Amino acid sequence: MKQKSITILLLLFFILLQIPVFSQSKNSTSAVNYSVEKKTEDLLAAMTLEEKIGQMTQICFSTITLDGTKNLDLNVDLVRKAILEYHVGSFLSGTGSKEKWIKFITDVQRIAIEETRLSIPLLIGIDHIHGANYVDNATYFPHNLTLSCSFDTSVISNAALVTAIETAPLGLIWNFAPVLDVGMNPYWPRLYETFGEDPIVCAKMGKAFINRYQNCNSIQPVKLSACAKHFIGYSNPKSGWDRTPAEISRQKLYEDYVPPFRYAIDNGVKSVMINSGEVNGIPAHRSKFLLDTVLRQKLGFTGVVITDIKDVLKIVEMHAGAHNEKEATLAAINAGIDMNMVCNTYNFCQIMKELVAEGKIPEKRIDASVRRILRMKYELGLFKNPYPIPEKASHTGSEKHLKAAQHAAENSIVLLKNNGVLPLTSKQQKIAVTGFAANSKKMLNGAWTLEWLGAEEERHPKNMQTLYSAMKNEFPDKTIKWVKTPDADNKNALIDFTKQLAQYDAIVLTVGEKPYSEFKGNINDLNLCPKQQKIAHAAMQCEKPLIVILIEGRPRLINNIVNQSDAVLFAGYPGVRGAEALVNILSGTVNPSGRLSFTYPKYPAHCVPYYHKHSDKYHPLFPFGYGLSYTNFTYSNLTLSDTVLLSADKTIIASVNVKNTGKNDGKETILWYISDKVGKITRPVKQLKHFEKITLKAGEEKTVFFRINPMETLSYPDQNGIPVIEKGGFTIQVENLQKSFNFK
Ligand code: BGC
Repeated sequence: MKQKSITILLLLFFILLQIPVFSQSKNSTSAVNYSVEKKTEDLLAAMTLEEKIGQMTQICFSTITLDGTKNLDLNVDLVRKAILEYHVGSFLSGTGSKEKWIKFITDVQRIAIEETRLSIPLLIGIDHIHGANYVDNATYFPHNLTLSCSFDTSVISNAALVTAIETAPLGLIWNFAPVLDVGMNPYWPRLYETFGEDPIVCAKMGKAFINRYQNCNSIQPVKLSACAKHFIGYSNPKSGWDRTPAEISRQKLYEDYVPPFRYAIDNGVKSVMINSGEVNGIPAHRSKFLLDTVLRQKLGFTGVVITDIKDVLKIVEMHAGAHNEKEATLAAINAGIDMNMVCNTYNFCQIMKELVAEGKIPEKRIDASVRRILRMKYELGLFKNPYPIPEKASHTGSEKHLKAAQHAAENSIVLLKNNGVLPLTSKQQKIAVTGFAANSKKMLNGAWTLEWLGAEEERHPKNMQTLYSAMKNEFPDKTIKWVKTPDADNKNALIDFTKQLAQYDAIVLTVGEKPYSEFKGNINDLNLCPKQQKIAHAAMQCEKPLIVILIEGRPRLINNIVNQSDAVLFAGYPGVRGAEALVNILSGTVNPSGRLSFTYPKYPAHCVPYYHKHSDKYHPLFPFGYGLSYTNFTYSNLTLSDTVLLSADKTIIASVNVKNTGKNDGKETILWYISDKVGKITRPVKQLKHFEKITLKAGEEKTVFFRINPMETLSYPDQNGIPVIEKGGFTIQVENLQKSFNFK
């Protein structure tokens, strides 16, 4: 039996060792840049109240374009109204070629610099969430859910670097990425934007993105800001629908949702965007507990807090959490927002003035926000370099960058089933490629590509391959045919479809989901949509080797399809070079190495993450961490340097041998899990604590290590976020091996 919790002792221990329970962020006082502080204070002192409120206002570009869309044709009168009349300090969102971006941002910045009293440059925000996805012919990476299946932080870091190089020269300084919501609800329509269901995977992937994006030498003199979003609890709405209520106990919040944000803040992320939903009955935008107690005080965040789009107004209109916009604004300001993404109205500017005049918001509260915003502008070097730098914009969509996107996809795609049909051989001479995504670029790039819902086919890069065209390129000696899918409700057409497919030696069938964003992706049923099921069923009738490729943003249920197919690959939305990556895996040029960063459920009503509680059951179709290879790996000799930990400052080193026992070179992800055998706050059956991906040649063996550090690996937060380690037994597990040890 466990002895009683030693929380207090531990706290004393951390205090003595001066280990903060919540570590301080890099952007806290120790890292203060005095020249930035001085300039910020001087500027702040020179500003009028209206100018300050303008700095707290962010407007959508669609509000100042000629046709009111995201297309980059400026309506100069409207820009002047925003900047000169309302002193707006920030804009967001648009879409177009790099040339258009450069001209547009130069023109807008020029008005702010040359026509205003204080020449404060604008902060321009963009959602470059999978590469420079709002720039024509740029490099579109796989979406995050796919990327996280690589279990390789260097893949994320490269994606961040390429995105930074393609984004910075256009004057797009502020990226609303990465999404750090933990994707544990497969219904949630933004699952594909997350790094999967595990808090530590999300945390480490997010950290890799932020570190590279914000500290990228190759884009100097420009500096960029990432934005950790959406703080917090957005990803697990009870109904599964976007922006609907979440109920999350405080203990769960600290244990499962906070870690990615903690890593982001400890690594100096400059901004945080707030969750549009409500958590435990309080819209996050007006939650003093979330925005102040957790974000500012416990996590020590000192950067800029921005609302999500129109979300102060949504407190009234969506949540019925305030009577009117004025009340909502006061609540959001009191909770701690710095900038309001109002998008298309200037009401906020007027309301803020009134609230100050009525004495409800002291001007020093406004100063605190404006100080953070100006500081960010100085830190990013915007005052010195406010304009785009066209001569640096020559790398957009370069072959080098596209190769990085391909490498990312090749390392991320997961082989879920293979009865030996893959890699393809000379036996399959005639291959049919079919299904909804067989000959489409849009389906591979997914949403948030040139348009919020994904641009129409013609706008995707000319030189981008579809699965069909990439198959033809890769297999010039085979007959590759694109077989169009019939009307799924026409029985005769389906029979013909089956007959047509029966003429081939193998069928490559794409199934999944067309691109969607946010609420547009709400579903009532996790099963694959009926039309796609009918198409898949017809394909299965042809009794030929069937290779299924899942192009989808979340795990739609596919039990029958998996049973009746010969191979299954999960590709998610694999991006601009997704087709080449898939085809290289089909041909065996690339040995697949992705592992699921989420649980693939079997039942629509039983979706639990792998770190469920003991009283729950885990019956997935494919578990978290699952993924096959064209080679085999065996694990042996799991060893612990000790089986007893006498205090929290001691560590145990675990090691294990991993051998490639197959005939092909390959990559293996080593997943280290810890189980705390008994807990007063019940513990998950196991939790991933460390992961590492290694390359092993055929026949090669390596020893890999993991240091068990009690603070990081054995403690868990209580309902106040205070770490607890309970004395007693723990188990470490890696692949099929496990060992026990004790914390005394
Ligand atoms: C999304 C955010 C995004 C913002 C700006 C919102 O609808 O929730 O993730 O950053 O729009 O485009």
